[in-house]
Amino acid sequence: MEHALQLDVEAMRRAGYATVDALVARLADPRADPVLRRAAPETMQALLGGGAPEGPSDYSDVLARVARDVLPYASRTDHPGYFAFVPSFTTWPAALAELVAAASNPYCGAWMESAAATQIELEVLGWFRDWLGMPAETAGLLVTGGSAANLTAMLVAREAAGGPSDASVVYLSDQAHSSLPRTARAMGLRPEQIRVLPSDAQWRLTPSAVRAAVQADRRAGRVPVAVCASAGSTNTGTVDPLGALADVCAEEELWLHVDAAYGGFAALTADGRTALSGIERADSVTLDPHKWLFQPMECGSVLVRDGALLERTFAIHPDYLDDNDAHGIGEVNFADRGLQLSRGFRALKIWMSVQTFGLAAFRDTIARNIELAQLAEQLVRERPELTLAAPAALGIVCFRREWPGCTEDETVARGAALVASLAQTGDALVSTTRLAGRHAIRLCVLNPTSAEQDVRRVIDHFADADAPAARTSLDPAPEARSDAVAATDSVGGSTEGWAGELRQVALLSTLSAAGLHDLVACAQLVDVAAGEAVVRQWEADRSFYVVLSGTYEIDVDGEIVRAAGAGDFFGELAARDWGGGYGYARLATVWCTQAGRLLLLPGASFRTLLDQEPSLRAQIEAAVAERLRRT
Ligand SMILES: Cc1ncc(COP(=O)(O)O)c(C=O)c1O
Repeated sequence: MEHALQLDVEAMRRAGYATVDALVARLADPRADPVLRRAAPETMQALLGGGAPEGPSDYSDVLARVARDVLPYASRTDHPGYFAFVPSFTTWPAALAELVAAASNPYCGAWMESAAATQIELEVLGWFRDWLGMPAETAGLLVTGGSAANLTAMLVAREAAGGPSDASVVYLSDQAHSSLPRTARAMGLRPEQIRVLPSDAQWRLTPSAVRAAVQADRRAGRVPVAVCASAGSTNTGTVDPLGALADVCAEEELWLHVDAAYGGFAALTADGRTALSGIERADSVTLDPHKWLFQPMECGSVLVRDGALLERTFAIHPDYLDDNDAHGIGEVNFADRGLQLSRGFRALKIWMSVQTFGLAAFRDTIARNIELAQLAEQLVRERPELTLAAPAALGIVCFRREWPGCTEDETVARGAALVASLAQTGDALVSTTRLAGRHAIRLCVLNPTSAEQDVRRVIDHFADADAPAARTSLDPAPEARSDAVAATDSVGGSTEGWAGELRQVALLSTLSAAGLHDLVACAQLVDVAAGEAVVRQWEADRSFYVVLSGTYEIDVDGEIVRAAGAGDFFGELAARDWGGGYGYARLATVWCTQAGRLLLLPGASFRTLLDQEPSLRAQIEAAVAERLRRT
């Protein structure tokens, strides 16, 4: 029967051929466009705005509009110079598989409706399991991406630990991906239920720190549940010491989740397998085919060692889905294994592209990417203008352009200017990050089209470019300072006395009048006696302290690492936001050695003040960078 949403078969063919022709023309030359074409919202609104049309248009006109007004205004992730963030190249067979999947549109939540599609998903997940060396009872599912995979895995980990509990605690490093704090937030975990541990000199989660934190939490009555390790951290490509972390998890009976979203596919290569050693012992793993397996977004996956736990966590059987029920006859209903009920045929693109090219082609491409990142590291080492910030690891390398005599703020501004001028050439795009609070340029080689010359061009750009004009200092204008001093007189009532005292503290001397007023309103004075502990390592409290008088010693694992006196401050790592509303674990005990007075700022007030007072933020960030310095 004819219906309103129908094209006749000739029109279908014409539309399909025209679409393929337009795409092949575009994809044939990845250098045809600049690597990034940005556009202002007004431009986009002018081109694409307007209500939904009531009447029809010719498909060829719609397609022409897409080719002209849509496709060009984006980064070209297939461009050989695309080294920013996590590149996401895709192959043509995988893209065609998307068309096949979308046009046939099977429901992939239940075996009954998609036996072959379900079998293909099982096959593909079996490949992943074997590539990582996980055992036969491992099961998993395809999801939208790494964020969804991390959430799925952590929900399973929580269920395995007995379900939600206010006492449960999860451990991760400061290099963990931001999807993990987001996962924690989505799961309703409070700040004290997440222990963010500083990574070591190689940017890795330290097993001994995990063990110390776990044991301290147990002593305090909390319930350690899971450790989240990275296997290819987004910042530096570093792989946490998976074997040693698996040992700690085995001893302490904790769940080990490995976020190998982009890095896990390196297991296809010899170097990658060595780097990822220990991943086979994980309880759950995140792996994103839309990253280093060159699949179109959105395609992530999660593998769970005890596969039965997936259904224990997610399966719910309402009456209206009785007909789909697998009835325990060996049929798999993927809707029982995750958060999605309606699921598309994600596995087809992986299956068709691997069938088309063969695994060796993927392996060689990943190996080539790893080599190019190693080349980039070597080129950085050869150029005196550049310093290595993190060596090549699983396709990522981080470096800095140094300008003698420049402050960190100036280095950030000049580095950003060079990143922008590189993007303006249209030939390459890189991104920046911060490592231990210090600026770094980050090159991520994950693209089959990238070649040696593309890497050399980037390194030459940063080494050879003239220093752009330094941005003006970020220090507040002098008037703002005198303003602050004058205005403190207006801070009224009982706060007047100590507002004057606060003006003498270097950290607080640049606060605006409003900032000082807010500080006075929310801070408390704390008198401490000699021998008292002000804060204790691993405790959950997130307050920040400024020393007004007395002397103090900072004790990390029983070793005194520094002393503090009037004008010093401590607690900023725990008090400040690391990500998603979570802070670092309290990493030291602070003992009072000579009685004195402290200004205590509750963590939430401290964070509000940091947002409002750029000069305070700059001082705190500098202190954080110093305290986390890897030397
Ligand atoms: C290590 C890691 N984990 C998780 C993610 C999140 O993945 P997605 O963007 O697919 O949600 C990323 C993304 O770059 C990542 O690099």
